[in-house]
Amino acid sequence: MAEKATEEIAAGYATTGAAIELGTVYLDGKTDPSARVRIPLAMLNRHGLVAGATGTGKTKTLQNLAEQLSSAGVPVVMADIKGDLSGLSRPGTSNDRITARAAEVGDDWAPTAFPVEFLSLGEKGSAVPIRATLTQFGPILLSKVLGLNETQESTLGLIFHWADQRQLPLLDTKDLRSVIQHLTSDEGKADLKGIGGVSSATAGVILRALVNLEAQGGEKFFGEPELDPNDLMKVVDGKGVISLLELSEEQTNPKLFSTFLMWLLAELFEHLPEAGDLDKPKLVFFFDEAHLLFSDASKAFLDRIEQTVKLIRSKGVGVFFCTQLPTDIPNDVLSQLGARVQHALRAFTPDDQKALARTVKTYPTTPHYKLDEALTSLGIGEAIVTVLSERGAPTPVAWARLRAPRSLMAAIGADEIRAAAQGSPLYGKYGETVDRESAYEKLTAKIAEAPPPEAPVERPPEVPRPEKEEAGMVEQIFSNPAVKSFLRSAASAAGREITRGLFGTRRR
Ligand SMILES: Nc1ncnc2c1ncn2[C@@H]1O[C@H](COP(=O)(O)OP(=O)(O)OP(=O)(O)O)[C@@H](O)[C@H]1O
Ligand SMILES: [Mg+2]
Repeated sequence: MAEKATEEIAAGYATTGAAIELGTVYLDGKTDPSARVRIPLAMLNRHGLVAGATGTGKTKTLQNLAEQLSSAGVPVVMADIKGDLSGLSRPGTSNDRITARAAEVGDDWAPTAFPVEFLSLGEKGSAVPIRATLTQFGPILLSKVLGLNETQESTLGLIFHWADQRQLPLLDTKDLRSVIQHLTSDEGKADLKGIGGVSSATAGVILRALVNLEAQGGEKFFGEPELDPNDLMKVVDGKGVISLLELSEEQTNPKLFSTFLMWLLAELFEHLPEAGDLDKPKLVFFFDEAHLLFSDASKAFLDRIEQTVKLIRSKGVGVFFCTQLPTDIPNDVLSQLGARVQHALRAFTPDDQKALARTVKTYPTTPHYKLDEALTSLGIGEAIVTVLSERGAPTPVAWARLRAPRSLMAAIGADEIRAAAQGSPLYGKYGETVDRESAYEKLTAKIAEAPPPEAPVERPPEVPRPEKEEAGMVEQIFSNPAVKSFLRSAASAAGREITRGLFGTRRR
């Protein structure tokens, strides 16, 4: 009976092409090494979710996925929030538990190390610091970082536009600060009026938020050299390079970190051409602690995440979100995640129980498991899984015993990370900031007092105030045809077409 059911479930995971091996089907207290649970590589651009309570095996699942992607020649970008993914760079150590698990899940386990680049977001500590200029980062993501409301967000958009138009490079926070200071000063009054719709009070709020960010050390991330997205897409000796973003101890604001991750995804999105359906993805991106990205996000910001996730698929990029509860992810995003690896959930509090009931509802029905019971009784390194088959249909729900990672299941420590990073060619490229002439110097030299000769200042057209605040003012303002044509003519008058993508990042 159980054998037949196991076979039936496993049949749903049969593939003709290459696949990630997650583990094997577990049913009625038994697991059959030949009943494989896997995700076809060709379906990884249909995205996924890894969820579960703390300590249930989420990070090890990410480690597993990253290892097999790397072996398949697919580069990986992932955040290493707790530092424990750094073990990917070292072979694992065998012990009785590992050997037993390998036998159980039919895995020819062997200790293996993978090529890893250790990156940090601007922190010059141990990993290679990567940076963005503010011009590149754009006003939308910066608004999220600064915690601005919709009105302030739209104001920041106009300030960026003013600088873009004058070819004032906003390299770091100092540059933006000097632009805002100029606009709110006596000599900048006329410029401020020219922008239209910017009150100096709002500009003042933005300035304070910026100063706070600097006080928290958030300014280190902004500057040159800018990251080249090609550096995240490397394959060495046939293995995809795993780029790990280390969260340093000084980085006290994980929310900031998650917005920077979104920037990375937006950069990749802008950088990559359309690719159509591929045998395997060009890159897979893992968003750990994904709840940080979604909490307190504006409707416009959430819409953009949804859009990016939807569109990046055709560029051959897979996105995996990792979080404690699937209910942390907005429904519009959740419904686009083809693979689900759900580790154990807790059902202690009424809130837990609600989340459990909602999670059960997101699964296809299964005659083989009672999902609410299964989800609360999963062991460590086990998960309730459903993915997309090669045909794009949801596979049968499987309780899976998962494989053990082949690399080290522990952190390697700051000294080892430093040694690895300093030995990387990327260190020479990104290790030191460069300081070129930017808005700060230009404004200090009072160049900005007169508009560039070939760029006559044109007043932007009046835009009716949107009625619904939460609809995303920036979006509404920038999608107004009159404003669009103004932006186009302004940009070409300035002799340089700065266009901004879905997330307001600069198009290359
Ligand atoms: N697939 C697996 N194979 C072998 N051991 C595992 C596996 N998954 C988890 N474990 C064991 O369980 C421990 C906790 O797993 P992990 O660190 O992945 O949990 P987590 O869900 O990421 O927790 P947190 O939310 O605290 O980050 C691991 O250190 C390891 O000992
Ligand atoms: Mg973890």
